[in-house]
Amino acid sequence: MGRTLLYEGKAKQIFETDEAGVLLHRYKDEATAFNARKRGSWAGKGRANAAISAAIFAYLERRGIPTHFIEQVDEVTLKTRRLQMLPVEVVVRNVAAGSLSRLLGYEEGRPLRAPIVELCYKNDALGDPMLNWYHFRELGLTDEELGFCEGLGLRVNAALRPFFGERGLELVDFKIEVGRDAEGRMMLADEISPDTCRLWDKKTGERLDKDRFRRDLGGVEEAYEEVLRRVTGGEDS
Ligand code: C5P
Repeated sequence: MGRTLLYEGKAKQIFETDEAGVLLHRYKDEATAFNARKRGSWAGKGRANAAISAAIFAYLERRGIPTHFIEQVDEVTLKTRRLQMLPVEVVVRNVAAGSLSRLLGYEEGRPLRAPIVELCYKNDALGDPMLNWYHFRELGLTDEELGFCEGLGLRVNAALRPFFGERGLELVDFKIEVGRDAEGRMMLADEISPDTCRLWDKKTGERLDKDRFRRDLGGVEEAYEEVLRRVTGGEDS
């Protein structure tokens, strides 16, 4: 299959294929944090994230949530539907951590009364700021798109919190992205992996996600492998 590099991101390359409307997402071993001010890489990261994302997208599809995922084609590559991406990062939180702890002055680990959804403007130059609906309307987004983003975030959370819970992991928070296919259907896109989720071991509280890299906690490779083992090794719910 012919491949033309369409886009190279921090942790992924995206290729066009001969097949119309189909892309290949190749997960890299590189990691960046703090708007690419911190960089690193480790062997097996791309393989772990590709397999974790594939398993989660397949699970969400079985739960009736539309995603861009078609199939995994090799260890580090997923075949996806080509989408027009909305410039939005949807963050959903169950437990205070990271920027929410700074925003509200909450200690990390404080449970939230109810899930919190945040919409952020996907714009590296501006540092992906959290905006409200008025700002997004100014940027040209419609209420239908904003409502879909919030609703999708909550549906994904409602599906994934028990999915991870059964695997001994607390889904503290996560980020998703949304795009439209050629027919205008909106769906879940990008990836769901320890790069984009905070996952804490329910028994020990150990962080099994990218915070190990961001905060130099060590054991980052082992943490991703542990999430991979729990996500792909468990029963198929
Ligand atoms: O940094 P913050 O606390 O806002 O991150 C919330 C969640 O969104 C975390 O799980 C983080 O990994 C994810 N995130 C992301 N990409 C970003 C910003 C946040 O995957 N650009």
